[in-house]
Amino acid sequence: MRIGMVGDLVGKPGRNAVLDWAPTLRSEYGVEFLIVDAENAAGGVGITPELAMNLLRDGSIDVLTLGNHAWGKREILPYLDEESRILRPANYPPGAPGRGWGVYGSSQGQVAVIVLQGRTFMEPVDDPFRALDSILESLPGGLAAIFVEFHAEATSEKQAFGMFADGRVSAVVGTHTHVQTADERILPRGTAYLTDVGMTGPIHSVIGMRVDVVLPRFQSLLPSRFEVADGEAQLSAALIDVDPHSRRAVQIERLQIPPYRRTQPGPA
Ligand SMILES: [Fe+2]
Ligand SMILES: [Fe+2]
Repeated sequence: MRIGMVGDLVGKPGRNAVLDWAPTLRSEYGVEFLIVDAENAAGGVGITPELAMNLLRDGSIDVLTLGNHAWGKREILPYLDEESRILRPANYPPGAPGRGWGVYGSSQGQVAVIVLQGRTFMEPVDDPFRALDSILESLPGGLAAIFVEFHAEATSEKQAFGMFADGRVSAVVGTHTHVQTADERILPRGTAYLTDVGMTGPIHSVIGMRVDVVLPRFQSLLPSRFEVADGEAQLSAALIDVDPHSRRAVQIERLQIPPYRRTQPGPA
């Protein structure tokens, strides 16, 4: 079966890109189960129930996920308890609203989706390694795939987590940095791995935000309110093929639509 993971949607350009492309990912790219990280969907920080409902409305997207910006819009908190198709990181303190993993139906069988957040250069959440161990013990049998999104900053922590999970889950795909890495591979025991899938949002930006707002902050260190950039948007995704009998990954492929321009656009 083919699982698609779309990286962090940034603002309206990101939401529009995924709404435009999700049906095509299913029909032309063969995606049978689609996971979308929407932690930056509302103006770059968090998500509202209205935006989540709109993204989930036609069933092209199976699960929405959130990372460290999960609580960015407070109105989402009760919705996280009501809607099982939206996940926040599982290794948040006990009593946090919502859930961090779930089991969902697909044409190829049941898929478990687990979201965990890293700790290096981030908020000191609970241990994601031990959290994975305990979630794996709670999962039902007979699953077709186990997909883990690892929302983290440090490439080293992400790779360490991938090796830790290797052979026990079908895929570990990183999110959070908004920059796609080129290290997709199948780990020795059959887990598909990618350090970061990248973002879905405005291309000419600083991780989705307006350059004219972010750049002065680096130069002056004065506070400024970040705003989502405009212009052409890009969709960043990973496509993972899993053998539903063994739950091992067969193939992983990165996707960027449209691809980054590496040359000056010439005359048509
Ligand atoms: Fe993000
Ligand atoms: Fe994040």
